[in-house]
Amino acid sequence: MSAKMATRRNSTSRRGSTDMARITASVYTSHVPAVGAALDQGKTHEPYWQPLFAGYEYSKQWLKDNKPDVIFLVYNDHATAFSLDMIPTFALGTAANYAIADEGWGPRPVPPVVGHPELAAHIAQSVIQDDFDLTIVNRMEVDHGLTVPLSLMCGQPQAWPCPVIPFAVNVVQYPVPSGRRCFQLGQAIRRAVESYDGDLNVQIWGTGGMSHQLQGPRAGLINRDWDNAFLDKLIADPEALAAIPHIDYVREAGSEGIELVMWLIARGAMADVKGGPAPLVKHRFYHVPASNTAIGHLIMENPE
Ligand code: DHB
Ligand code: FE
Repeated sequence: MSAKMATRRNSTSRRGSTDMARITASVYTSHVPAVGAALDQGKTHEPYWQPLFAGYEYSKQWLKDNKPDVIFLVYNDHATAFSLDMIPTFALGTAANYAIADEGWGPRPVPPVVGHPELAAHIAQSVIQDDFDLTIVNRMEVDHGLTVPLSLMCGQPQAWPCPVIPFAVNVVQYPVPSGRRCFQLGQAIRRAVESYDGDLNVQIWGTGGMSHQLQGPRAGLINRDWDNAFLDKLIADPEALAAIPHIDYVREAGSEGIELVMWLIARGAMADVKGGPAPLVKHRFYHVPASNTAIGHLIMENPE
């Protein structure tokens, strides 16, 4: 049996019997490293952390009930796999496995990340031919930007529930991609997934944010009003949100608030952007503080 046949036969998709991959849902979440440390060190029930983890209880059950075959996980590397030596704007992981990075305290005690080389290679082919220049990454360690969202959504399992395709976006070193470019790229990723010959239920996750500034005189900046307006617009008018220039993110959401452009990649992959039905907002959560930042989270489903 070919690998593709095996993938089809093993597919756990509960949606759609057509022999086509589809994006069924998108998940959006912050990836604060201290959240990973709190989980790894058994502190989730401490008063500081309990309200934050409570906001993800629904999400963990939702993911169990809506287990995808593959997660396409948009995140940013924090000078871990990449550095100022090499700065890819968009880097697509095509490997079979990704080791957990040591960010200074040893690798997080989480399962290794299993990739999906076949779908990743197809997405590379489709998206690059669709005029988005990607960097192909065949070996890469993944940092908190990728592992903390998995931990928040899955807790502490022996293995992650499915293969993950890492998609790293440069939001660390200027120039970083525009919100508009990210939103258009999400649409290209949707076209790529839908042209894959295999019955796969794919979720796309956009991670990073929300308002935070980790350095300089404004360190600790949090802007609840702006964050919540961002969540409102991400749901109802992502096209207008995608037009917001970088300077607005920096001024209103702090220097690291620019991580939020990655959410527009996931949002661009939803069905309504190209005339489909509006997404169902299954969950919305916002909490301050999480370390130096505001934490935000949304789950949207494409109606069947
Ligand atoms: C912190 C680091 C991040 O990468 C982030 O997105 C949020 C917070 C931190 O060091 O607190
Ligand atoms: Fe970050």
